[in-house]
Amino acid sequence: MDNPLSSAGKRDYPVTVRRILKVNHAGEFGAIRIYGAQIWMARRLFPEMVSALREMRDDEIEHCRLFRHAMPSRNAKPCRVMAFWSLGGYLLGFLTALGGRNMVWICTEAVESTVHRHLEDQLAFLKTRDRELHGLIASIQEEELAHLREAERNQTRRGIGHALLLPVVAALTDLMIWLSTWGDSSWMRAEMARSKRV
Ligand SMILES: [Fe+2]
Ligand SMILES: [Fe+2]
Repeated sequence: MDNPLSSAGKRDYPVTVRRILKVNHAGEFGAIRIYGAQIWMARRLFPEMVSALREMRDDEIEHCRLFRHAMPSRNAKPCRVMAFWSLGGYLLGFLTALGGRNMVWICTEAVESTVHRHLEDQLAFLKTRDRELHGLIASIQEEELAHLREAERNQTRRGIGHALLLPVVAALTDLMIWLSTWGDSSWMRAEMARSKRV
């Protein structure tokens, strides 16, 4: 396992860059699986949603490819527990689609808003450390924001389902990201807060 602390006790930033790539690549793969399961269900239950979900899945496929492409030059490797992301994503997509159209959009809102927040942290970290990756993540973040807006627009009501499901899915997404970065996501959040203060 990479040790993010150098002998001087400082964070070794290339290790964090590798973790960012690893979790983003795995997360995009998880998103592909969420949308895949929802598309499968939507074809049978609410076919009018299929094209919107397909468009978002196509974006995630491209994001996944771009993160994979950015790995070799930074000595990063895909996550070893991709099967975990695959199964988790598929289950989340399948179960939310069982709950109906609104649940699908609540799930999208929760996942995309959590991802957006983590990308913000990553951008703050990368600004002075890896300009190229910073540019890539900034462009991907725009598309994730568009997914978030679409999910918000499509919700017909924001009742108890929204109040209950949103924090649960957001917490699960946070947990997956935290585990996949070995806790670096918390550290980056603190780092960003620090850089805002100076
Ligand atoms: Fe994405
Ligand atoms: Fe997305």
